Amino acid sequence: MNWQVVICCFLLGVTPVLCTLDFNYHNNKAVENYLKDINNNYSSITYLHSIGSSVAGNQLWVLVIGLYPSQHMIGIPEMKYVANMHGNEVVGRELMLHLIEYLVTSYKTDVVISQLINNTRIHIMPSMNPDGFEASAVDCYGIVGRLNKNGYDLNRNFPDAFNLNPDPIQPETKAVMDWIKSETFVLSANFHGGAVVASYPYDNGNAENNGITPDEDVFKYLATLYATKHANMYQGIQCPGMNSFPAGITNGYQWYPVRGGMQDYNYVYGQCYEITIELSCCKYPDESTLSQFWSDNKVSLIEYIKQIHMGIKGRVFDLEGNPIPNAIVEVKDRKHIQPYTTNSIGEYYHLLTPGSYTFNISAAGVSLLQTVDITNNKNLYATKYDFSINVSASSANSLLQVYTLLSILSTILVLLCT
Ligand SMILES: *[C@@H]1O[C@H](CO)[C@@H](O)[C@H](O)[C@H]1NC(C)=O
Ligand SMILES: *[C@@H]1O[C@H](CO)[C@@H](O)[C@H](O)[C@H]1NC(C)=O
Ligand SMILES: *[C@@H]1O[C@H](CO)[C@@H](O)[C@H](O)[C@H]1NC(C)=O
Ligand SMILES: *[C@@H]1O[C@H](CO)[C@@H](O)[C@H](O)[C@H]1NC(C)=O
Ligand SMILES: [Zn+2]
Repeated sequence: MNWQVVICCFLLGVTPVLCTLDFNYHNNKAVENYLKDINNNYSSITYLHSIGSSVAGNQLWVLVIGLYPSQHMIGIPEMKYVANMHGNEVVGRELMLHLIEYLVTSYKTDVVISQLINNTRIHIMPSMNPDGFEASAVDCYGIVGRLNKNGYDLNRNFPDAFNLNPDPIQPETKAVMDWIKSETFVLSANFHGGAVVASYPYDNGNAENNGITPDEDVFKYLATLYATKHANMYQGIQCPGMNSFPAGITNGYQWYPVRGGMQDYNYVYGQCYEITIELSCCKYPDESTLSQFWSDNKVSLIEYIKQIHMGIKGRVFDLEGNPIPNAIVEVKDRKHIQPYTTNSIGEYYHLLTPGSYTFNISAAGVSLLQTVDITNNKNLYATKYDFSINVSASSANSLLQVYTLLSILSTILVLLCT
């Protein structure tokens, strides 16, 4: 604890829960203690868990903030932030700690933040590569600490839609893949350093798509939102030896192709819209710059979370009102590489800009085309729309049964294999 914190605690007297986090770097132990403290002090709106461990056995901590932090609730979308996947890119790691403090201390005192926490389940992972962080030190342009302890670049380690990825999947990557599978994530960002830009999928591509997804408008909107709410990213900051990015955004593939990146994995296989935020020219800057980075990014970090409520959400039911899991819900002419499907309780979430969209819902060989108007939403509520599809009750039930059986089987397998 440094002297500012001591004075802050002293001034706050009897209830020192608002002690501000210092703007120093926090090692893995300090991050763990901080997250445990936050979880203790704000237990009703936080849930702390580790989604796995690194090669060296460090826990991969995730703090969840929400009105129901430990479980998914129907209609409450799941949002995530992941920082420090390159161990020597550290600004995001500290920003996550400050963001956590800001969110929990604003609950009940700030109406908008309270609504955001009430309507969103926010998952924050300050470090995906704690081993790499331990190996790195203050240094702007080096690569020491970038990789995990086995020498793999975690942002090249995910299964890829366009090229086979022959590298063995690392424990940190596997933990994140399992985590993505376990929640209905909708929106995400992952934080890096070495440039100042919001980069959006695809990170890889082919001659046919040139890296452009069917959701180009949505991704451009999301990246632009982060860049314009930022103190200066939108101005196109040119880092030494780098190109500059008009408006502070870029398509990942058109910047440089990346095989096995995390944002493409989220978007293609996780039904989750993820962008990559490059926060600083210097990957591991001096501590004295951290408070400036926090004030430069604070508004963007909050406003970006709100965007999870753009677009449309709802459930798919059969005509008897039973939810249909695994039903395909796609916008016509906006086909994802892997069709987006409803989760185990029949929910879907699509981020879309306002407009009229024709949806194609299919389950058990039956398809339904329906046009829905998505309005501009300003109140943290997506357009809510439930689809009813005329699949015979028996086939819907058997879908549900097959799904339940599969879940039970996979649970048994997991139990047997661990
Ligand atoms: C948690 O509460 C304790 C006791 O009130 C306080 O000393 C500590 O600074 C708080 N920590 C955080 C991270 O809020
Ligand atoms: C958030 O939810 C709590 C619990 O239901 C409620 O008491 C509070 O008024 C809500 N806050 C806002 C701003 O909606
Ligand atoms: C709707 O989706 C189903 C299943 O993916 C497909 O077979 C069908 O051709 C689609 N219909 C239209 C009009 O796009
Ligand atoms: C549902 O489909 C069945 C058979 O395909 C048809 O007989 C029935 O009229 C349909 N029901 C509705 C409400 O459209
Ligand atoms: Zn990076």
